[in-house]
Amino acid sequence: MLLYIHIPFCDSKCYYCSFNSFINFHDEIPNYMNALKRQLLWDLKRFNVKKIETVFIGGGTPSCVKPKFYEEIFKTFLPYLEKNAEITAEANPNSASFEWLQDMKTLGVNRISFGVQSFNDKKLKALNRAHTAKEAVKAVENAEKTGIKNISIDIIYDFYLDSKDLLLKDVKTASVLPVNHLSAYELTIERGTLFSQTPNVKKESEEFGYFFRESVEAIGLKQYEVSNYGRYKSRHNLGYWQHKNYLGIGAGAVGFIDSFRYYPHTNIQKYIKEPLFAKTEKLTPNELLTEKIFLGLRSSVGVKKEILTPKMLQNARLLEKEGKLLCKNGTFYNKEYFLSDELALFIMG
Ligand SMILES: C[S@@+](CC[C@H](N)C(=O)[O-])C[C@H]1O[C@@H](n2cnc3c(N)ncnc32)[C@H](O)[C@@H]1O
Ligand code: SF4
Repeated sequence: MLLYIHIPFCDSKCYYCSFNSFINFHDEIPNYMNALKRQLLWDLKRFNVKKIETVFIGGGTPSCVKPKFYEEIFKTFLPYLEKNAEITAEANPNSASFEWLQDMKTLGVNRISFGVQSFNDKKLKALNRAHTAKEAVKAVENAEKTGIKNISIDIIYDFYLDSKDLLLKDVKTASVLPVNHLSAYELTIERGTLFSQTPNVKKESEEFGYFFRESVEAIGLKQYEVSNYGRYKSRHNLGYWQHKNYLGIGAGAVGFIDSFRYYPHTNIQKYIKEPLFAKTEKLTPNELLTEKIFLGLRSSVGVKKEILTPKMLQNARLLEKEGKLLCKNGTFYNKEYFLSDELALFIMG
């Protein structure tokens, strides 16, 4: 079992972001964290959880919340943790101080994922980030000083200010920092965001994706999913792509147990009132199979031969003949993650 915990608070709203995160509810943090504990206790019990392999505290901005508010949550899941479990917290460079990082490490966090987006101040400002490039560098260095070994950064590309030169400089900066993982997201224009009013801030260029990948791989971070590169592969991410079960705790989180998906309230105040409420959705065998094919081809997980129908297997064999897929030990592996969706659609006919 994997565990995802959602922290829906942010210090500022980035112009591209449609995640469930709010800038005006910080007063509710103590109540929210109590509600999280209630839901966690309930989900551990109702799904009869025996072991937790990985924990991911995501957001929003987990570093908006002081470590003392996490204590009860950690106490609650600690007895279920497997030895050497991966515990990741997302963090923003402006709020993840040395003390915050150190205290989170003391609680048990052993991986930090920083939302950096760029090391170019002009671009950061245009995205409405609450930090400078210098602060991002400092935050990564601070994380290393606390002794946290697994550090990741998120970068966004395909923004109108991007150029090969800018992206290369970002990769160069990353190469001298103690990061062993990088997530590179192509900017998407999401409904309801400020950028949806100026969609041409997105640069439509296939070139940057390929260029960026080449540059990131050249510094030793190998692609293992469409948007993820690393010397260390995030076990939590891999767990999602392997279709493992996960608890989804918090406002706007999503959980997945066997063939069900469940959704707690997204509204913070509703969630605080009713943390045990969740809408559920049952996935059909066909939907589950489709997901396994898409997730498997997007990542190094691959697709097991035995889950495919005879027609799908025939299509996969055609792709193998064309050199697009590699079949090893009964699993089809994608050789070009950027084409994963097209290949999945071809297999499904
Ligand atoms: C939900 S955010 C949480 C991280 C943290 N709050 C931060 O921004 O520093 C996770 C990552 O998703 C990416 N992201 C969010 N919205 C995006 C969009 N519209 N296009 C591309 N990437 C996006 C950003 O790179 C961000 O760091
Ligand atoms: S990208 Fe991160 S910091 Fe920015 S609004 Fe979204 S969750 Fe908050």
